[in-house]
Amino acid sequence: MTSPTISFTRTDPYRPPADHVRLQAEAPISRVQRPDGRRLWVLTRHEDVRAMLMDTRFSSDRRDPRHPAHMAHMGPDYKPGLIEMDPPDHTALRRSLIGEFTVSRLGAWRPRIQEMVDESIDALLAGPAPVDLVEALSLPIPSMVISELLGVPYADHDFFQENSANFSRIDTTPEQKGAAVANLRGYIADLVQQKVKQPGDDLLSRQLAAGVSPEDLGPIGFLLLIAGHETTANMISLSIATLLDKREKLEAVRDDPAITVGAVEELLRYFTIAEVGHQRLALADIEIGGVLIKEGETVFGLANTANRDASVFPEPDELDFTRLARNHLAFGFGPHQCLGQNLARLELEVVLATVLRRIPTLRLAVPFDEIPFKENGPNYGVNELKVAW
Ligand code: HEM
Repeated sequence: MTSPTISFTRTDPYRPPADHVRLQAEAPISRVQRPDGRRLWVLTRHEDVRAMLMDTRFSSDRRDPRHPAHMAHMGPDYKPGLIEMDPPDHTALRRSLIGEFTVSRLGAWRPRIQEMVDESIDALLAGPAPVDLVEALSLPIPSMVISELLGVPYADHDFFQENSANFSRIDTTPEQKGAAVANLRGYIADLVQQKVKQPGDDLLSRQLAAGVSPEDLGPIGFLLLIAGHETTANMISLSIATLLDKREKLEAVRDDPAITVGAVEELLRYFTIAEVGHQRLALADIEIGGVLIKEGETVFGLANTANRDASVFPEPDELDFTRLARNHLAFGFGPHQCLGQNLARLELEVVLATVLRRIPTLRLAVPFDEIPFKENGPNYGVNELKVAW
């Protein structure tokens, strides 16, 4: 079935984009047109999205001009990042990094993350209200964590936050995106050269010591830096805004902090912020859910509707902190499943628990429906979150 166009704009902050919901109900596998005129298959059911993400014949190699996420700066000399690669190169590179992001390895970071959150809250409480929580907490925490983990000086955060935003924003031109990539990659390349001379106790230095070449390390550092802060920042803001709006949910977590882990998982499912995350190019004729997708055609797996699939998540529009829905697709699935998911979970858990414990009177300083949500970006989120206490 062909549908004219598909919009990625959310009109209800608590629901996936209306077009996606409609497609899931009416035509769960459809051929649609993007606002830029290009045609693509859209998958909306959990089973189909998962099958697509597992199948490496659906390529992530964005250097191929046919790939739906191909960008002008990805010429033949472009060195792809992990998320833009296919096996076997992807497999080898991912294997070299995975040890840095295991639950046990990251557990050692908990006290340091707690310290960062406590210091940010001390500073926030010492200042005047209302305050923008995005600036005071949601963005600094993941930025500080990923900087320290990689060995990137946090003092440079204005530079890397601005360039990451320019890279991922929907309203920047291909030239601006290319410039942002060049700026960040140049910055990481210089930093890596410094670490060649003077290694530190950080991920980039450890990769060098393990034999990764400085040239190969640039794209790795770039991706980890951009993937590691804005996504988590969006989830922190959305989670806190939701708890402040739905007071009974907030009280449930405050009365029983043991459910924080379940709350984080459910909030990840409920928001599934990576709006345009799962774009692939079919390298063969492949059947999905009874439909033949032909070689050279492009596919979008909509994790946001997949995570509201009632056959997998009963009462999917209910925010249920006792659900323990680990099979959600908010971090993707298969070979490209989010490398930093354990870190994101840890940060969210520490931030939510600490905010609820330390600022019991926290409240929204603007009505929930006046919060400026990021309705049109590749990741759903919040531009500004004014709170008082
Ligand atoms: C991949 C979401 C946090 C690093 C992904 C993918 C999704 C995702 C959906 C898969 C994309 C695809 O299939 O093409 C999220 C969300 C986060 C988050 C919702 C926060 C709540 C992080 C953090 C880091 C990170 C904190 C870094 C430390 C990565 C990397 C990949 C990735 C490196 C590529 C993995 C690969 O291609 O093998 N993420 N992410 N992410 N993420 Fe995350």
